[in-house]
Amino acid sequence: MNLKSVLAGAGSYLPGNVLSNADLAARVDTSDEWIRARTGIKSRRIAGEGEFTSDLAVAAARKALDSAGKDPSDVDLVILATTTPDKTFPATAAIVQAKLGVPAGAAFDVQAVCSGFVYALTTADKFLRTGDHKCALVIGAETFSRIIDWEDRSTCVLFGDGAGAWVLEAQDAEKSGDRGVIATELQCDGRFTDYLHVDGGVSSTGTVGHVRMQGNKVFRQAIERISDAMIAVARKAGIAPSAIDWFVPHQANERIIHGVVERLNLPSDRVVSTIAEQGNTSAASIPLAFDAAVRDGRIKPGDLVMIEAMGGGLTWGAALLRA
Ligand code: UT7
Repeated sequence: MNLKSVLAGAGSYLPGNVLSNADLAARVDTSDEWIRARTGIKSRRIAGEGEFTSDLAVAAARKALDSAGKDPSDVDLVILATTTPDKTFPATAAIVQAKLGVPAGAAFDVQAVCSGFVYALTTADKFLRTGDHKCALVIGAETFSRIIDWEDRSTCVLFGDGAGAWVLEAQDAEKSGDRGVIATELQCDGRFTDYLHVDGGVSSTGTVGHVRMQGNKVFRQAIERISDAMIAVARKAGIAPSAIDWFVPHQANERIIHGVVERLNLPSDRVVSTIAEQGNTSAASIPLAFDAAVRDGRIKPGDLVMIEAMGGGLTWGAALLRA
């Protein structure tokens, strides 16, 4: 039997604390005007004390399971994309599996920073298509606020916390119609690790560390590499990038999103953007944006959706699915 990974449901969760640009301008030498003009961000959410990445992930996953009409016992694979795990080990996916009451199956984390959700989705797709696993929870969840240097204006204005989740089901390709994951593309160029990294680690410093970024160097790579990944995915699927119904990009910078839209001649009213109110939530940003557009009725079952991301590594990638 030829199997496909079909999206059965989606959900997301944002913590309650709102941190505005004005709040940040009171702490560091920045301004609402600079942040909005350079990034498109107006505010972001910050996880509360005692609220961990696994808590955000569980809240999003419960909503995704509800929307899929599934029970935790239906799930046999949990893949969680995060750079901000609860602990060095076990994987946050294992903690989430237990908190949700998923009784069996595999659970592991994927670490590809802001590209994490595309990496996790691609991994789940390959697991499901072998037939070894039947129902996957793919989650992007971050408490990036915990690795921010709140004195560093070049990074502290960019990031936020949140989580999003998809439930994917292995279905007989004959019966699923044209729905499901169609094509994916992953890339990494490890020569650029210094452009975006954390200056601590278990094996190097024994500390957690803080995000350090040479933003303009990452920016210069982003539009071209993201566009190339989307072109590669479109080519595999045999479509023109402009044929997509919805573009759900990683929410790093409004200017990067516009650059990709212009380069690939995408219809600008088909772009899903949540950056203004959420900032960059790293691996969580794509499923958060996707869920917002499902809930407000824009993305409907059967729509052709392209996702993409670029992040630390540098890693990048794209995926095309029929929702
Ligand atoms: O999601 C993972 C991947 N990450 C990304 O894709 C991020 C990519 N990079 C970016 O989005 C942009 O590079 C930033 C938004 C981070 C920065 O925008 P930029 O237009 O590239 O600014 P810049 O880094 O070249 O800095 C321009 C100026 C500098 O001042 P001088 O040297 O020109 O005097 C910075 O010191 O802006 C200054 N600056 C700030 N000023 C006010 C940097 N951060 C701030 C700030 N407020 N928060």
